[in-house]
Amino acid sequence: MDNELRITKELIRQIEKEAKKYFIGASGCHDWSHVERVKLLALNMGRKEKADLKIIELAAILHDIGRKDEMKKRGLFCHAEMGAGKAKKILRKHGFNKKLRDDIVHCIKTHRFRKNNIPKTIEAKVLFDADKLDAIGVVGLSRAFLFAGGSGSNNIYTGNEKKLAKSGKDYLFTKEDSAILEYELKLKYIKNGMLTETGRKVAKNRHSQMKKFVEIFWDEVKGKK
Ligand code: ADP
Ligand code: NI
Repeated sequence: MDNELRITKELIRQIEKEAKKYFIGASGCHDWSHVERVKLLALNMGRKEKADLKIIELAAILHDIGRKDEMKKRGLFCHAEMGAGKAKKILRKHGFNKKLRDDIVHCIKTHRFRKNNIPKTIEAKVLFDADKLDAIGVVGLSRAFLFAGGSGSNNIYTGNEKKLAKSGKDYLFTKEDSAILEYELKLKYIKNGMLTETGRKVAKNRHSQMKKFVEIFWDEVKGKK
């Protein structure tokens, strides 16, 4: 390969600085702190999965840069695809060759994996798992409470969660919504969708701590303990 690019700490720091700009004014449940947590977790998991840590680090830093635009357009396009396009430009500007760019962009494009964007490489699978893992556990629940506060539902619970969850409907931005409903509808099942062995282990742990939290929550609501 001709003039091989060296991914130095300084280069990563520069790209991080650029990525951070996309998060100015972002809501607390999806701000730069989410990116930092995903990065740290993905690096820890990537080490265990013997993945390429430079690819993981850069993909994690850039994975949500399309997020704010998606929010502005109320979800009309997918932030993973939008972010992948923006990331490609940033990487090209910094001299990344096509192979490196493609490897990183693949992780970003597939980190949401709703329809046909399937994570194929180990780095993409690790990023996918780390991003989902940040939605569960104690931090994940905290994010859900913050989201509920900002979304207009403003409930920590309604008491109807089990019943509403059975309907399978989406109660986003309605009065019936609550952080606990998010748990009943989505967070509870996240552990079943992990793509790596390490992800499954972390998910098992975070899931049981989150479940415990919710059990204690209902005990306290009922005046027990
Ligand atoms: P993604 O990262 O796949 O775009 P979402 O936009 O669904 O995920 O969620 C981002 C964060 O906001 C997650 O932590 C999620 O639990 C939380 N969240 C999303 N919708 C709700 C809701 N209706 N109530 C509470 N929390 C929510
Ligand atoms: Ni994310």
